[in-house]
Amino acid sequence: MLDVKLKLKPGHTSERAWMEPSPLRQLFWNITYACNYRCKICFTDAGSGGPEELTTEEAKDVVRRAHDAGVGDIIISGGEPFMRDDIVEILACMAELGMTVRFASNGSLLTDELLDRLRGETLTKSFQISLDTLDPRLYRETHGTSPEALPSALEALRSIKEHGFHTTVSVRLTPATLPGIPQLLDRACSEGWSTVTVHCPVHMRRIADAFPQDADFLGLLGPVFDHFTALPKHWLVEMYIPWAQYHPGMRRLEKRIRVVYRGCIAGRDRLTINPTGWLSPCVCLDVEEAYVGNIREDDLQDTFRDSPLCEMLRHPQEHGICVDCPHVEVCGGGCRASAFALTGRLDGLDRACPLRKRMFAASRDKGHETS
Ligand SMILES: C[S@@+](CC[C@H](N)C(=O)[O-])C[C@H]1O[C@@H](n2cnc3c(N)ncnc32)[C@H](O)[C@@H]1O
Ligand code: SF4
Ligand code: SF4
Repeated sequence: MLDVKLKLKPGHTSERAWMEPSPLRQLFWNITYACNYRCKICFTDAGSGGPEELTTEEAKDVVRRAHDAGVGDIIISGGEPFMRDDIVEILACMAELGMTVRFASNGSLLTDELLDRLRGETLTKSFQISLDTLDPRLYRETHGTSPEALPSALEALRSIKEHGFHTTVSVRLTPATLPGIPQLLDRACSEGWSTVTVHCPVHMRRIADAFPQDADFLGLLGPVFDHFTALPKHWLVEMYIPWAQYHPGMRRLEKRIRVVYRGCIAGRDRLTINPTGWLSPCVCLDVEEAYVGNIREDDLQDTFRDSPLCEMLRHPQEHGICVDCPHVEVCGGGCRASAFALTGRLDGLDRACPLRKRMFAASRDKGHETS
């Protein structure tokens, strides 16, 4: 994922060096493809669920097997996870085993009654609510929904916070949403939301009106960083873009605020389960080429340990990725989802990386000199 987290107060953080080998610790579970919204950009192309999705019993079996594999925390996303009417039952099964949950949701189905149940019967820790903009017309357009949807997302955020859950929002960076991000930060500050996560969209499935995959996302976010660091409350910036620390704009930001580079943990300590049970290292890569097994048949730890794709993510240079870059052991060879979107290959080059762009430009100039 190409995420930038603008954190207003402490939340979930990890001090672990992200490229170190690690056992499987975390699952990202896209629990259904069903969704009541139709966002113009959605890497799962969510809409309707289907009979081939994991049943309640299969889902509870996943929970038990994840627990046996040593997983203590699951991020549940979708589609819209609350489209599943057995969601509390699945979460209650997790709670019995002491497993915690973090949700990604559009917020539209989160009633007070449901939040009471989640508080009482599950170990839900936090919610990340999609909020691409505070402009009602643009919200309607980007989320593909009705005029009441923005007030309902804001109401959900109020209620989530009132119920004592960690409350965060996410926005997808597009030409249309970029100008409104400072306003979202102001709102986060006044409402007490903990984090504003900016997703730099990965070009998978539905991707209308986005910046190009190799756009200079961090350059575009310059004014947003300025706004953030001028807020009365600001804590730290976390970067999940593997090559972020080599972007020239980061030196300026580092002078004003603590910046933590977290890289990408796909396949290094995390697997993703899709609604029909397919396992992929990366939540953005719900594509056949990236499936490393299926939870209906395969063991989680064995798949994580032995899959050639996870091995490639752990040792990219041994698979020919970025062998010409001295930073590959720190960066990990860029974002595989971005590389796949740009080249059609899982072992392709992430051409969005600023150093890679410089290398391309230098070899082009050299070509001109010698021709
Ligand atoms: C796929 S949604 C599913 C959960 C829920 N329905 C929601 O909208 O939050 C999970 C997260 O992925 C983000 N997202 C969707 N499409 C994306 C893309 N192409 N690139 C990056 N993030 C994306 C959304 O903004 C949301 O925060
Ligand atoms: S991003 Fe979330 S809300 Fe939007 S269509 Fe996809 S799953 Fe639904
Ligand atoms: S060239 Fe490759 S390894 Fe080097 S910083 Fe860029 S993506 Fe990372």
